[in-house]
Amino acid sequence: MSLSGVSKTAILTLRARAEEHARSDAVFSDPLAVTWLGRTEWPSELDAWYGPDSQMSLALRADDIDQITRRYLEATTVHTVVELGCGLSTRRQRLEDLTWKQWVDVDLPEVVALREQWGAGGERHQQLGCSVLDRSWMDALEGPADQFLFIAEGLFYYLPRADVQALLADMGRRFTGSSIIFDVVGPLDFAKLRDNTALVGAPVQWKLETGFDAVLEDLGLDVKDDFEPEALAKTALDRYWHRFDQKTKGMIFLALNSELFRAGRSGTVLGQLRAAR
Ligand SMILES: C[S@@+](CC[C@H](N)C(=O)[O-])C[C@H]1O[C@@H](n2cnc3c(N)ncnc32)[C@H](O)[C@@H]1O
Repeated sequence: MSLSGVSKTAILTLRARAEEHARSDAVFSDPLAVTWLGRTEWPSELDAWYGPDSQMSLALRADDIDQITRRYLEATTVHTVVELGCGLSTRRQRLEDLTWKQWVDVDLPEVVALREQWGAGGERHQQLGCSVLDRSWMDALEGPADQFLFIAEGLFYYLPRADVQALLADMGRRFTGSSIIFDVVGPLDFAKLRDNTALVGAPVQWKLETGFDAVLEDLGLDVKDDFEPEALAKTALDRYWHRFDQKTKGMIFLALNSELFRAGRSGTVLGQLRAAR
């Protein structure tokens, strides 16, 4: 079975993780990603997008979200972890040692069918094949409303921004006090990502307009103590600094010290869901 349109991008991130696993300086092990990549046909449309830089940034993003998830699960009581737009994610296996009662993966039906064909799922690992914009996945979740951790890696900018805003508002009503980790694209990275995603017929739809620092407020989310956007960025930089070449280090230095770059950057955040104000 092959994937179509936006779902092909799940093969890109799978490859980045499988190749990370093979590196001598890998930041994580992911043997399942290697196995799954071996069963996948590589879409040639992704050739122009994939290379050493995208391998590194996608693998480090996956690890960064693992690290935030790890810290959140250690600090907070979480009943269920839900990966929205999970693609061919193998995060549940990477975080097997952590404490959670249920793990739920949600993606479009063809992606979930492929995951199930490859053996994903099980007693504490539910697979739901539907659009995240179709609220039926929410009805399938069990557990106290404030004990969910949602993860949406590489997802929200493929959807219309108004739909993302409405989805987060509905999640806020249903799961007040739970949290969500997701990544956003800033103006500095948008044009290149739009060109790359257009290759698979799914150009990204929106970027941050009011700067990275305002992202949680703009999307109607609360900042959670110890998980402030700037604190997460600093932790990630410390962890990955050794992987950057001199040019990237220079860019990061500029980004940290210039208002323009700070406002235009992309990144990963954790926000707490709130009931509408
Ligand atoms: C870039 S991939 C990311 C996959 C995975 N989160 C990762 O980081 O490896 C984007 C994923 O979003 C999924 N997706 C896009 N639109 C969706 C929607 N409306 N509902 C559910 N999943 C969607 C695609 O099928 C694809 O698996």
